[in-house]
Amino acid sequence: MNTTVSETLLLGPGPCNVSENVLEALSRPLFGHLDPRFLGVMESVKSQLRIVFDTENSVTFPISATGSAGMEFLLVNFLEPGDTIVVGVNGVFGGRVAALSEKLGARVVKVEQEWGRAIDLDEFRDTIRRESPKIAALVNGETSTGVYQPMNGVGDVCREAGALLFMDCVTSLAGMPVHVDEWGADIVFSGTQKCLGVPPGLAPVTVSPRALEVYRNRSKPTPSFYLDLDALLAYVDGEGGRSYHHTAPISMVFALDAGLKEILDEGLESRWSRHARGAEYLRSELAAFGFEPVVPEGERLNPLTTLYLPDGFNDAEARSKLLMEHGIEVGAGLGPLAGKIWRIGLMAGNASESSVDRLTEALKSVLS
Ligand SMILES: Cc1ncc(COP(=O)(O)O)c(C=O)c1O
Repeated sequence: MNTTVSETLLLGPGPCNVSENVLEALSRPLFGHLDPRFLGVMESVKSQLRIVFDTENSVTFPISATGSAGMEFLLVNFLEPGDTIVVGVNGVFGGRVAALSEKLGARVVKVEQEWGRAIDLDEFRDTIRRESPKIAALVNGETSTGVYQPMNGVGDVCREAGALLFMDCVTSLAGMPVHVDEWGADIVFSGTQKCLGVPPGLAPVTVSPRALEVYRNRSKPTPSFYLDLDALLAYVDGEGGRSYHHTAPISMVFALDAGLKEILDEGLESRWSRHARGAEYLRSELAAFGFEPVVPEGERLNPLTTLYLPDGFNDAEARSKLLMEHGIEVGAGLGPLAGKIWRIGLMAGNASESSVDRLTEALKSVLS
């Protein structure tokens, strides 16, 4: 049985394996969190994040917690009780946005779609026109189903309707095109453990000037200490010194800085192409075993491929053998797709033919 952590190939829905550079950054001696040298690293992270998000937004920084905190940060600061939010729900993560919005006392209008298909944008745009919500929310990369959501024209309709466009790009960022400004996305979050190639622990966010104005006009202060936008800005923004709010996870910020440098050295477009080639190779190699794609062409999330299991396939046993005997993790299906599909992540450095070859060799042995 192989239980060596360093030998586990993480081909699930995240986290993925991280590079030697990122591991080295994690083990670097610490600075104090208000040390000017640490603030320099934070500034480097913020400016690199702007490039990766493809935005000019000055409010762009990592929240000190996992991706879910990015979602909560956006909703708790920009949504107030009684506000309307239109949410595209075609999997787990759109469902979470709807559920948290309900808890925050908002009126939630769902635009639903079967799992494994993108939200119908005609219906989504019509719903925004009809409801004039405070926020319209889409998940750009639905990790529960492997769908990459097109965003065409949604930002324009949001502007006409006076709504903010919320986007979850946890699994798409740095693995597929994400263009925050061009798409008119106003409030956006991600996570570090997918195509950014860094361990879980930070949630990069970006906020448009339009959204900042909406925040300034809240009727009541944000009902959160940890995620309050103004308090966080006083900590992460350079203007006139920084005041203590919480103790940033220094090592994770070092790691994100190193991960972002690797991304920009590779180039975003090359990285997106590498993820596309990996996904295509994976689909073609696994077709030989009888795995069929869940998501139609044109809606596929390259970093996370979903495949129907062949007839008579023992899902739990095969995943367990892959992990315990071959040191390879793959993800199970969720919700209505549980027991029917696998979710195979080829993210960051793992988006390569060699990861796929290792998986297919192991599968041959598991199935023999
Ligand atoms: C699309 C999407 N949104 C949100 C999250 C939540 O992020 P985290 O698990 O880092 O809190 C995930 C995590 O997998 C995700 O895939």
